[in-house]
Amino acid sequence: MRLTLLSLFLFVGCATTSASTGEAAGKPAAGETKAAVTPEVPRKLFDRLGGKGAIEAVIDDFLGRVAGDESINSGFAVGHVPRLRQRLVELVCAASGGPCTYSGRDMTTVHAGMKITGAQFDSLVGHLVATLDKFKVPAGEKGELLGLLGPMRSSIVEEP
Ligand code: HEM
Repeated sequence: MRLTLLSLFLFVGCATTSASTGEAAGKPAAGETKAAVTPEVPRKLFDRLGGKGAIEAVIDDFLGRVAGDESINSGFAVGHVPRLRQRLVELVCAASGGPCTYSGRDMTTVHAGMKITGAQFDSLVGHLVATLDKFKVPAGEKGELLGLLGPMRSSIVEEP
């Protein structure tokens, strides 16, 4: 039986500022004081999502939704689901700056000949959004994650 499934950043910004308007070396000019500001280091999306465990939970919920959607679930063999799950976790983990290596094939090679439509791609993204909403992923992180997947569209979609 063929089930159906689709399966489916660090800029270390040291926001150190000084109240000093004095010399570049940070030495306060006469009469001025130097205020220390705690450096702010943005965390990787991977960490803000909650790490690998959270990504695995997201992929599991997402795959469940895809499996139940007849418009996109054909083509996914039951036996391939564990592998697909693993590769999706790797993909999201690596793309979000986590300590993973994606071991699958590139998106063009994987989906070549599947005649995937834009509507199918959008449905799949819709399932991911539903999952992220269920897990109450904040709008910022949700937007960043979708922003990582969006550019893959042209490699996956073959039909308008
Ligand atoms: C953001 C969109 C998508 C991403 C990130 C994605 C990602 C992936 C990945 C990582 C794999 C496994 C690659 C490997 O085994 O080497 C895969 C396989 C596959 N994808 Fe996608 N995909 C997307 C959209 C779609 C859509 C819209 C469809 C169909 C409607 C689709 C159908 C498939 C199928 C049939 C497989 C093969 C499953 C199997 O091994 O049996 N994908 N995809």
